[in-house]
Amino acid sequence: MPFADLRDFISALERSGDLVRIGQEVDWDLEVGAISRRVFEQGGPALLFERIKDYPNGYAILNGPVGTWRRVAIALDLDPNSSVREIYAAYTERRERKIPQATVSSAPCQEEVMVGPDVDLYRLPAPMVHDGDGGRYIGTWDVVITKDPETGWTNWGMYRFMTHTRNMLVGWPQATSQLALMMKNQFLPHNRAMPIAIAIGCDPLCHMVATDPFKPGESEVEYAGGLRGAAVGLVSCKTHDLMVPAHAEIVIEGEVLPDRIALEGPFGEYPGYRSGTMGEGVLVQVTAVAHRRRPILTLSTLGIPPDDSSIAASLTAATAMKRGLMRRGVPVKEVYVPPEGVTHLVVVSVERGGRQVAQQVLDFFTARRVMVSKVVVVDRDVDAFDMAQVIHAFATKCHPGKGMIVQHYEGRGNALTPCYSAEERRKLNGASVVFDATWPEEWAEEAIPVKASFATTYPESVQEKVRKNWRSYGLGGKA
Ligand SMILES: Cc1cc2nc3c(=O)[nH]c(=O)nc-3n(C[C@H](O)[C@H](O)[C@H](O)COP(=O)(O)O)c2cc1C
Repeated sequence: MPFADLRDFISALERSGDLVRIGQEVDWDLEVGAISRRVFEQGGPALLFERIKDYPNGYAILNGPVGTWRRVAIALDLDPNSSVREIYAAYTERRERKIPQATVSSAPCQEEVMVGPDVDLYRLPAPMVHDGDGGRYIGTWDVVITKDPETGWTNWGMYRFMTHTRNMLVGWPQATSQLALMMKNQFLPHNRAMPIAIAIGCDPLCHMVATDPFKPGESEVEYAGGLRGAAVGLVSCKTHDLMVPAHAEIVIEGEVLPDRIALEGPFGEYPGYRSGTMGEGVLVQVTAVAHRRRPILTLSTLGIPPDDSSIAASLTAATAMKRGLMRRGVPVKEVYVPPEGVTHLVVVSVERGGRQVAQQVLDFFTARRVMVSKVVVVDRDVDAFDMAQVIHAFATKCHPGKGMIVQHYEGRGNALTPCYSAEERRKLNGASVVFDATWPEEWAEEAIPVKASFATTYPESVQEKVRKNWRSYGLGGKA
């Protein structure tokens, strides 16, 4: 059953024991963030903060909607104990169903509206998430909506936004993001402001889709519908014609100014470090704020994994990478993005290995914007989802002198790669390396070392006997 809205999802999390309500008053200034971060680091539940200092009762914050694989499984209406492989498979399959949106004329997200001079962002309980952040972040788990005026294509993306003044926001879309590209190509040349809407507190799958790297022209709302198994209801904004999820808790409407910027950040970011000093961010003049009565602000207190970013991006990035590798003719079997590697590390298993295939994999990863710096390629007999097997293959099969291929690039690297120097980050220069942990293709079969495992070093008859007698030996575990 699709979740009608965030509140429906919260109830499901509560039923399965994956959410804790905190009724005691907490301070938006660091306390909410500190509790949330500690709970993430313990692999704990989603948290619903119901009493925020300085705010009316019922103005709530939800931290960590999909910060564990269990919560992602629940969002997808799967068994909460589903394996990561099962979750990846369900996401991949359902994503292709695509259900067009439904337009509605009135919406819960517009129960209360502030327009023009009445806009006051401080009436919403945006937290000071981490000590050292540049300000209060209202957009940490959002769906940011913009439209290309030429093609009519609407982009959904997840980008951080900080409250700048009572009616201005400042954000940090990476230069290679669709939001930044749309502004640069379609609005800046005409010195025009770009309409924008920031939806906060939607059904979890709408947010998931916003983190998924779709191509221009692809309708993210249709993919979200497919994943939910029901159309996403959209309503028109109050001050421009962008369409937003009607069930959102909060919608901030505005326009990105073409002729002004403001300082943004730092922010405790998804790689697990505070981003650098304040940088130039895009400035949004807010034209309206609409919200449900007793709104719930979704939050992700990003940092050391696991959290929503490392878990959600593991899913959406890996499935997108697998599709891309397949399109390029790479003999890919599986792609796994371990959350601990915060999308900077990717594992690719291939049907057939060798240096040529490793090079093909690297070519894919460095073709356009480059967010990944390390890729491990393993043979098909290695379970890409099992990091113990991946480390074993890497340690034993990657030749220290010949097994690494490095590629440097300029102007399209990931500014949030901690090991890059400040200059590299500023210029978006970087490098990616592929670790080839497959057997060289030119090795004859008899030259390939035989794995000393139960499955590979015992005759089938012995294996069968051992499996059959497993319990009678008095052994537990898998028979
Ligand atoms: C919690 C979270 C926060 C994010 N914040 C930003 C951000 O501030 N700027 C950015 O460029 N990408 C950010 N991303 C990554 C983008 O959401 C992701 O690259 C997505 O594909 C962007 O959409 P686009 O491909 O349409 O640009 C964030 C992802 C997550 C999961």
